[in-house]
Amino acid sequence: MRVDLSEPVTAIPRYGLFEIARMARERADAIHLNLGEPDFGTPAPIREAAKRAIDDGFTHYTHDAGIPESRAALAGKLAAFNGMTVDPEREVKVTAGSQEALYLTLATILRPGDEVIVLEPYYPHYVINVVLHGARPVFVHLDEQSGYHLDPAGLRARLSPRTKAVILNSPMNPLGAVIREATVRAVAEAIEGTPVVLVSDEAYERILYDGRRHFSPGAIPEIRDQDEVVFLCDGAVVEHAPTPRFFRDPRRIETREYLKWHTCTCHLASDGGLDARQREGRS
Ligand SMILES: Cc1ncc(COP(=O)(O)O)c(C=O)c1O
Repeated sequence: MRVDLSEPVTAIPRYGLFEIARMARERADAIHLNLGEPDFGTPAPIREAAKRAIDDGFTHYTHDAGIPESRAALAGKLAAFNGMTVDPEREVKVTAGSQEALYLTLATILRPGDEVIVLEPYYPHYVINVVLHGARPVFVHLDEQSGYHLDPAGLRARLSPRTKAVILNSPMNPLGAVIREATVRAVAEAIEGTPVVLVSDEAYERILYDGRRHFSPGAIPEIRDQDEVVFLCDGAVVEHAPTPRFFRDPRRIETREYLKWHTCTCHLASDGGLDARQREGRS
């Protein structure tokens, strides 16, 4: 007898991308351009740190927000690279990848019937997580003619009283497009003073070409001062393959901490990332 699956799970759209990735894995001659991974392996310092963490006995449960050293290192990196000041005690949580950060963020804020603005074409997990929590994606299409430029006025037009969050992703998967600083500022302005949460996925922040520069919404003081803002994804992750991500949210921290207990932080993820950052002098 078949078990009925939960409604949110059955509502998740099926994406050809995952099927193509599965088929490609079965072919030795396939060139993998399907999943958002770099074409190099995890660098030695991270692998070594993870192995050392096992030998040092970091194989138990840990603080649900991540070990303090990791959080402090992430706060240091945010200040130096992203121009944002965060309190490592209250505002940084280490997650096992950005998928977990995204899931926890949306699980914390979404209610059935809420709307979430998603730039299209999009990274499928945004929509999967929106649908999983009974909310609805509202798309802002980016077209080729404009060089995949995000028009802040177009985004503003899609905001409604039901809008709960806007997900920005720059540099973008799958487009590779970079959202300009002026555009990030215009989006921040559009939601300033509203209860809309800005979720910023900056996984590819260091993978930039042609002299382009990454600009994090976290560097905008007005946004930083807003209680509701959530940022997720430390860029070293996609760049270096699995190391920790973080997310930040001062006001909802208690809810998030509670949720975090149900998904768990593992020492290996925290320590691997910490050690790699320190060795590269990046923290
Ligand atoms: C835009 C974007 N965010 C997040 C991720 C996933 O990151 P993680 O492996 O840390 O969960 C990817 C991976 O493809 C991605 O393309």
